[in-house]
Amino acid sequence: MSISIFVPKLKSVFEGQIAIKNCNFVSIMTINGSEDIEKYLKHPVFHAIRDVSDDMSLQSFVIGGFVRDIFLNRPSKDIDVVVIGSGIELAERVAKKLGGLRLSVFKNFGTAMLKYRDLEVEFVGARKESYQRHSRKPIVEDGTLEDDQNRRDFSINALALSLNRTTYGDLLDPFDGIKDMQDGVIRTPQDPLITFSDDPLRMMRAIRFATQLEFQIDEATFEGIKKSKDRIDIISAERISDELNKIVMADQPSIGFKLLEETGLLGIIFPEMQALKGVDKVKGRAHKDNFYHTLEVLDRIVPNTDDLWLRWSAILHDIAKPVTKRYDKNTGWTFHNHNFIGVKMVPKIFKRIKLPLNEKMKFVQKMVGLHMRPIVLSEDVVTDSAVRRLLFEAGDDIDKLMTLCEADITSKNPEKVKRYMRNFKQVRRKLKEIEEKDHVRNFQPPVSGEEIMETFGLSPCKEIGDLKSVIKEAILEGDIANDHDEAYQLMLKTGIEMGLKPVK
Ligand code: CTP
Repeated sequence: MSISIFVPKLKSVFEGQIAIKNCNFVSIMTINGSEDIEKYLKHPVFHAIRDVSDDMSLQSFVIGGFVRDIFLNRPSKDIDVVVIGSGIELAERVAKKLGGLRLSVFKNFGTAMLKYRDLEVEFVGARKESYQRHSRKPIVEDGTLEDDQNRRDFSINALALSLNRTTYGDLLDPFDGIKDMQDGVIRTPQDPLITFSDDPLRMMRAIRFATQLEFQIDEATFEGIKKSKDRIDIISAERISDELNKIVMADQPSIGFKLLEETGLLGIIFPEMQALKGVDKVKGRAHKDNFYHTLEVLDRIVPNTDDLWLRWSAILHDIAKPVTKRYDKNTGWTFHNHNFIGVKMVPKIFKRIKLPLNEKMKFVQKMVGLHMRPIVLSEDVVTDSAVRRLLFEAGDDIDKLMTLCEADITSKNPEKVKRYMRNFKQVRRKLKEIEEKDHVRNFQPPVSGEEIMETFGLSPCKEIGDLKSVIKEAILEGDIANDHDEAYQLMLKTGIEMGLKPVK
């Protein structure tokens, strides 16, 4: 048996050996029968499972993501082992054979897990499993390998390799998962309505795999998602956001968001993003479609950042445009204050999607709130004081803000893009210059509240805050340097003007 896989995008060990015209992304994985597959099963864990299974006269298989990832040439450290019999008993014997490893046993689920060197191995008995309509609690019975493969999510995730000695490395692919990998297709092994009803999260997984692997979703599977979309309601927000974050971290996240939109899932799990879609027209004047604009910004930021939260900032930067949209007969479409309203929308969205409500969220709020500033700045004469204020507000996140703003330039007019980019370069240069000179990035008031109190013999009162803000404003405006002596002189002068009397 010889299996050749043409996998879009993913790199493989054989890349470059076969030239394919006009196709930059194709790579090839060729496996010649079980001898070649065996090289992926050389780890001592697999040998131990083989020996113990043979001793116990049990059939065992490695199944699911690990097998899929051999063919996609994505190294995987998570191994799922299915045994026709008791997964826990097999695991106990394997743990012993490997030198008395610690085993985590989950009796309720009939599973056991061990860690050996770099691998995490989960053992389970083959199961026949079905879920009741309104519950996440499955009815589980012992089953055959086929039953087990049947209840899996996609053909590419149902591949199994035998781990017994006489059949070691033999591939069991009852749903043509290999062909689906060759064709770049995500397909459920059974009627999609059954597969999705067993676990509605699989609808998100289908879209996530299609995004990560840049595969197509098979037509019937796609229709199945459309029909089953409302059942996503029974899935916990944490499981949904895990999948969503994997889409966000893919090389081209727009693929996933477009699929979420087309299937109707986006409107259920993330209605604010759904609301970005569409174009209104008044007297022939239309605004741009903010859904596709947002996706363009998101894809454009990907090569420049692995930071999940900067990517989320790209998703949310214009999130308040639908609620702030107005038509003015003189100026056309406006989205006044969409940045500030966006800042207020972020916590509600994070809470519902179950993203962290901590400094990560605050960072996203900061990016959303400031995302217009460098653009506005660069449209005008770039003054020192405007740059100083931006530095003061963005602090250490200034580079990330600039990355977001550069991705936000999606104009189709090349002249306009050139002008923006040129101005941004100037803003970046000025930012560097001013930071070196004035150090306002992590601004600390050069005169403290205590010093003000001592100077004028004050107890805590409003005047102290007023004086501090006069000093801060003067520094940001460039009227005085960010320096103790100049700030002290200004404090003294302003205090006296306010009617305060120095006591020392
Ligand atoms: N699986 C399934 N339905 C789910 C989740 C998982 O049928 N909702 C099955 C699939 O056979 C899958 C295997 O369990 O391959 C392991 O699942 P998991 O570790 O969650 O995902 P992987 O497929 O390995 O992919 P990834 O690690 O990228 O999440």
